[in-house]
Formats: sequence, C-alpha cells, structure tokens
Amino acid sequence: MLTLPPTKSSRETVLAAMRAARDRDAKWQEGKTFSLVYYAGDEILQLLKDAYALFFSENGLNPMAFPSLNKFETEVVAMTAALLGGDEETVGNMTSGGTESILMAVKAAREWARVNLPHITAPEILLPASAHPAFDKAAHYFSLQAVHVPITADFRADIAAMRAAITPNTILLVGSAPTYPHGIVDPIAELATLARERAILFHVDACVGGFMLPFVRKLGYPVPDFDFRVPGVTSISVDLHKYAYAAKGASVILYRNRALRRHQFFVHTDWAGGIYASPTMTGTRPGGAIAAAWAILNFLGEEGYLALNDTVMKTVTKLRAGINAIEGLRVLGDPAMSILAIGSDALNIYEVADEMTARGWLIDRQQFPPSLHLTVTHAHAASADQFLADLADAAARARRFSFAKFANTLQVGAARAAARVLPPRVMSALTARVSALTGAGVPKRSAAMYGMMASLPNRGDVNELVLDVLDRLTRPED
Ligand SMILES: Cc1ncc(COP(=O)(O)O)c(C=O)c1O
Repeated sequence: MLTLPPTKSSRETVLAAMRAARDRDAKWQEGKTFSLVYYAGDEILQLLKDAYALFFSENGLNPMAFPSLNKFETEVVAMTAALLGGDEETVGNMTSGGTESILMAVKAAREWARVNLPHITAPEILLPASAHPAFDKAAHYFSLQAVHVPITADFRADIAAMRAAITPNTILLVGSAPTYPHGIVDPIAELATLARERAILFHVDACVGGFMLPFVRKLGYPVPDFDFRVPGVTSISVDLHKYAYAAKGASVILYRNRALRRHQFFVHTDWAGGIYASPTMTGTRPGGAIAAAWAILNFLGEEGYLALNDTVMKTVTKLRAGINAIEGLRVLGDPAMSILAIGSDALNIYEVADEMTARGWLIDRQQFPPSLHLTVTHAHAASADQFLADLADAAARARRFSFAKFANTLQVGAARAAARVLPPRVMSALTARVSALTGAGVPKRSAAMYGMMASLPNRGDVNELVLDVLDRLTRPED
C-alpha cells in the first residue's frame, strides 16, 4: 500500500520525479497528437499560464469575495453569447468543461419539465447516435431516459427518425454543431422546428464548434445556421478549452433566457453553514481557469481567432485532399470545420492507425463504422505534410494484410496502440479478460478498447471490461 512519504522532499526532487513521469505522455507540442490538447503556440501558452497563476488561489465559488472573477465570468459569457447569436435576454455561466455544461442543460431541462410539463413522470431526452456521451451521463445522473436515434448515411441527425422517436414523454431534443465523431453539423434548423412544434426544449452541443464555426463562416466557408439565430434553440454548450484555446477547465453554458437558466441553479437555505447558492455542478471553482479564459478572449479578439482559424482551415483543406488521394482511405461525410474522421471500405483502418502509432502519431480509433479521428488544430499546420506522407505509407503497409486476417489484425493492431496508452498492469489484466471473453487465446498484446469493442459480440462484456479498466487505472504501480 502506498503511503505518504514519511519525510519531506526537496522541491527539485519532486519536480524531477514529475518530469520523469511524463516520459510516456503524448507529445502534443510536436503536432502529432490529434485529440485532448489544443495548442496554438508558446506565446499563447505563456499568457494562459501567467493569467492562471495570477488567480491561482482565488475561488469562483463566492463572487462577492472575488468581484474580479465575477467580472471575468460575466464578460466571457457575454462575449460568447454575442458570438452565438445571443441577445439581451441570453444568459449563462462558466463551467469546468463540456460535460458539466451538458449536465447543466439536461438538469435545467428536467426541472423545466417538472414545472411546465408536470404530467410527465418518465422524461426522455432524444439523442442522435452521434451525440456526445455526456448526454448519456446526464441522463444517468439525473434519472432521465436517453433515447438514441440512428443517424443518416452522411452522419447527420435523421429528422424523420427523430420525429418518429418523439413521444409524449420527450422533454428535450439534442443536436451537435458539429458532432465529435465525424465533425458534421446536424440540421439544427429542422431539429429546432421539431422542438417548437412540440413546445419542448432543444439543446445545441457546440462544445467543440462554438468558438470556431462563427469564424469559419466569416472566412468564407459554408456553415449552416446552428446558434441562437435559429428560433427554437433554447440552450447551447460551448467549450473554451477547445477551439477558444483557453486553459483546461473552461466552458460556457448559455440559455435563451433567464427563466430557463433558473432551473439550473441550486440553493440550500437551511444549512448551519449559512445560505448556500451554487449556479453549476461544482462548489469550489478554480479562479485560474476563469481568468485564463478571459485573458485569451481579450488577447486574441476577433482578429486573432480569424487568423488562427484561417491557418487551421487551410491545414484542413490540405489534409482532406491528401487523405482522399490515398488509395483506400477517405474522409467520412462532409465535415464543416476541423474535425475529420478517416474511414476505409478496403483497408483495416485500425491497422493503418497502428502503423501511424508506430510513427509517433496519437490518433483515436472510432467504431460504427471503424474510423480514425482527427481534431485538427493550429499545431498541425507544421506537421500536416509529414502526417500525409506517413499516412500514405501506413495505408500501403495495411494494404498488404489480407482480408482473412482482418479480424485478428483489428485486435492486434489496435492492441499495439493500447499498449502505448494504458499502463502495463492494466494492459495485462485486460489481455487476460479479452482472451477469456473471445476464447481466442491471448493475443500478443491484447486488444485496445475500440478494437475489442468491434470484435466482441456481447456489448455487456464490453461494458464490464471498460469498468474494469476504470477500476484498475487508479491503483498505484506495485
Ligand atoms: C461535441 C462535444 N460535446 C461534449 C464534449 C465533452 O467535453 P469535455 O471533455 O470538456 O467534458 C466534447 C469533447 O470533446 C465534444 O466534442
């Protein structure tokens, strides 16, 4: 059992141990990581660190104690609302991230329905299959029924299917701008019409796109309407720690009006510790994240975001053309901005991914259909040519695998990637479980989550496996 060290250590020893622990971490500075980190250069990074450090100790829990943080939050929310077609009525709060913003929108919808649709005892929220799992998490936490609706062949929310899935218990529809898996903007106007016809709520998840699509449109790329300009959109989530390039722990949840947001708040007036009021999920809120968000919005301004996104979109254009030119690979659907999914009808795409991993690229594997996920950011402008060269090479190698080997390589290929991201002790436990489940003998390095998910027939097994991984991840190394 790991215990606290009995004695103090020097500052140097502690920091050196932490630097060493980074060894196996994703090397995002090199533009070879296609998720998790949004990096727009060292000048911006330093500004974020400085702003964060200035408010490192302050706590956003009590706005009366820190009017500075209250000002920052108010202004960040106002600027975000203005960007997304809001007006004088639009209100919102900062949260710790997309998941918290979505939790809040769903919780507000539940409370709204309790007041406005009191006859509903088993409320449902309607999700296109591509919606982020944060909505399922919200349904799970708040005891709502999440109803999943298949999407179209071009990866958009299917309006006819959504219409058919609405029941008298439906309280909320969801659309994404864009979706995380394929980068597609759902038909927001049509979904909003559906919601208005039924007088129910409609949330647009613009977590990944809210701070990019408005600039992409200004730069001249086609972007369908997706924000408060569309009547019927009642709430929008937009993350600042994604394409606003803020420090992590920063998102905004917006509502069309105050009355709706009221359902988000929590108040407990009878506590011995005094009257407790909290607008969002968390109690203590790190002042640094709020301050850094304010800093980056003011530092870049519209001019800065346009310039950054011009570079990103030029990189995307290059990548899309380059990927589609590689035999056997194609970009799925018609992505609106900088989230791309690479699929293949001919190759084992997980084998391609494995080859890319071997070349130092960190790329997520997706399922239904198997594909690779790219979140293209400013950091990829410098690495795009190398990426395309490596991808062509990886595809050429994958082509050598015969179709008969597909199922096996799907596992082993993805397994090599998993070996790089999961600690060895978790990997070996996983290997044993997969082998028992598949009855296929222990694969050399076991299968990665997505590879396994694709190969295991029983979804319940997958669920148990993933729970095991979560369980083991926080056990200290022996
Ligand atoms: C569309 C979308 N919604 C929600 C989220 C969840 O955001 P977070 O990871 O900040 O909680 C993401 C994250 O990638 C996303 O892309």
